[in-house]
Amino acid sequence: MKIVTIIGARPQIIKAAALSRAIRNHFADQIKEVIVHTGQHYDVNMSQVFIDELGVPEPDYNLNIGSAGHGVQTAGMITGIEEILLKEKPDFLVIYGDTNSTLAGAVAASKIHIPIAHVEAGLRSFNKSMPEEINRIMADHASTLLFTPTPTGLDNLINEGFSKENKAPFTPDHPGVFHCGDVMYDNSLFFETIAREKSKILNELNLKEGEFYLATVHRDNNTDQPTRLNALFEAFQEITTSTQKTLVLPVHPRTRKMLPQNLNDELYAKVNENPFIRMIDPMSFLDMIVLEKHCDMIFTDSGGVQKEAYFFQKPALILRSETEWKEIVTQGCARVVNADKIKILEAFDYFNTNKNTLKFPTIFGDGKAAEFIVDILLKNS
Ligand code: UD1
Repeated sequence: MKIVTIIGARPQIIKAAALSRAIRNHFADQIKEVIVHTGQHYDVNMSQVFIDELGVPEPDYNLNIGSAGHGVQTAGMITGIEEILLKEKPDFLVIYGDTNSTLAGAVAASKIHIPIAHVEAGLRSFNKSMPEEINRIMADHASTLLFTPTPTGLDNLINEGFSKENKAPFTPDHPGVFHCGDVMYDNSLFFETIAREKSKILNELNLKEGEFYLATVHRDNNTDQPTRLNALFEAFQEITTSTQKTLVLPVHPRTRKMLPQNLNDELYAKVNENPFIRMIDPMSFLDMIVLEKHCDMIFTDSGGVQKEAYFFQKPALILRSETEWKEIVTQGCARVVNADKIKILEAFDYFNTNKNTLKFPTIFGDGKAAEFIVDILLKNS
């Protein structure tokens, strides 16, 4: 059997690592995987570092699309992916998550009738102003096999007319829906031990367990809207000044570009002078999970990081107006605080007082989601 895997943005390289590992360890003689990197992310620390560190095979193709508006970026990817699919003729195209690379793969394959397997299907923010929401809805509705990471993901698909009772043979009009858990949970379990041995990040940054906070901000509605970006950084400024604790902020390239443009001058100067706000380059996955595991609390607008907070039993403040990972909020371990300074400060105080009472039951599967997915692909090829 042959699959073509599309990667492009940082989180997809990480997710693909889980499937590539499952293929290598359990199904090497049965599957050939061809990897296509769209080039959506291209900085070394947004892309190659993950390929090197996580055991993802070097991509067979790189489309080198890079940054552009949604139309140019996605169209370039569709053209390149279609050509490769016509040449490789795989049994399945495997796509991950909700980025423009995911959408491009879905459009290219569905038009030439190559079955699509969507990993991380069914997630919804119910906010169609997010490009990711459009990408995930369209990817799900073009897919033949859909793999949901959470019970909410499965419910969302059923509400949109999918049936989990469908039996093989599957087609885009009669798709197979499988609840399998989260490949990111597989990865966190697998890489935790490796990270403990290899990562030197705590020493490099001179950080002690429980004595620092971790934050990430990269969603376009936070970086590109000055009111929101200012509110977030005012909150970071206030929290670090009052607690005198370090906040580590690995800065996404989009954020790096927008901070000087969109923070007001006074706040920008204060944040840069604040010794407790440590803005650093994007982290490798191993360093990132060490920071997540040893920090005190996490502030993030990333889908992946809010979940990793849960995996490593840390409270998370979600810097968005909603989340696709509802379970961690219902469980009381995360709060949706938007870019609202008052809500951020309130939730910060709440978690500061209550963090030791939080419970983190298993929600994201058994750590073997990737093996399950590969097995289903094989059975349906
Ligand atoms: C993309 C995904 C988002 C995912 C995120 C992970 C879409 C619509 N969004 O957002 O779902 O959570 O990746 O990081 O696909 N840039 C660089 N170097 C890089 C990559 C990006 O400088 O290696 C800069 C460019 O200025 C670019 C901007 O970041 O214009 C945004 O990159 P883009 O791929 O458009 O989206 P992300 O914000 O990374």
